[in-house]
Amino acid sequence: MKIIDEWNHIAKERLIDRLNGNDRSYSEILLPKMLSNINKYYSNSSSCSILDFGCGTGELTFEVSKLSYNILGLDISNYSIELANEYFRNENLSFLNKSLFETDFKINFECVIANMSLMDTKDLIGNLKLIHKALKIDGKLLVTITHPSFWPIYWDYFNDNDFNYNKESRITRTFKTQNKIFEGYKTSHFHRPVSYYLNSFIETGFKVVATEELGHPEDNLWYPRFLYLELEK
Ligand SMILES: C[S@@+](CC[C@H](N)C(=O)[O-])C[C@H]1O[C@@H](n2cnc3c(N)ncnc32)[C@H](O)[C@@H]1O
Repeated sequence: MKIIDEWNHIAKERLIDRLNGNDRSYSEILLPKMLSNINKYYSNSSSCSILDFGCGTGELTFEVSKLSYNILGLDISNYSIELANEYFRNENLSFLNKSLFETDFKINFECVIANMSLMDTKDLIGNLKLIHKALKIDGKLLVTITHPSFWPIYWDYFNDNDFNYNKESRITRTFKTQNKIFEGYKTSHFHRPVSYYLNSFIETGFKVVATEELGHPEDNLWYPRFLYLELEK
């Protein structure tokens, strides 16, 4: 299945799951991390424009808009954007169903956030180049991804015969969160080693200014599941 169709298929189930508060990794780890770091740089400034790359059904985009930032959520999944427009409204919030390759922004953004979307993006370098172009000088790119070193253990493909940590590969599995297995819904992400990500940021002109490995104290896992990266143009 194409990446767009996978995310179209699962969009409503995921949205409802999140609205019911079941996605604890999102509500307890990823959302607070993104909001606190956006505020750290931009202190609720209403003149700050943010792009949410791969916004999905727009839950995080909406939360950021509540803090008075101008935010545009962009996603290639048409059904995700349809749901985002249906469920989330704010005067400083808008959504766009496009790939970055189809955009020609008239403004440059202070900040781009990419919450759990870069590992789902087929052309990482191509998109990073366009994110870089869309940012103002000194603009920030705030990223969370599944931790490349530990997600293969968490999603149980580390020991697969055809898995090689050092090689980029598309992994397709039944989608799951900490609390729920989404039977009948498969999604893909691209496994890439940590060095691949870091080199891609460097190659596209970004400076890494901070990083953190994220988990939850109640995970009972010995490893962090997510990687947070703060980059600057
Ligand atoms: C795991 S979901 C994350 C959605 C959202 N950021 C969130 O926090 O819930 C990944 C999203 O990335 C989107 N995506 C994948 N490749 C993309 C691309 N090239 N451009 C824009 N969005 C993309 C998918 O359609 C999907 O909605």
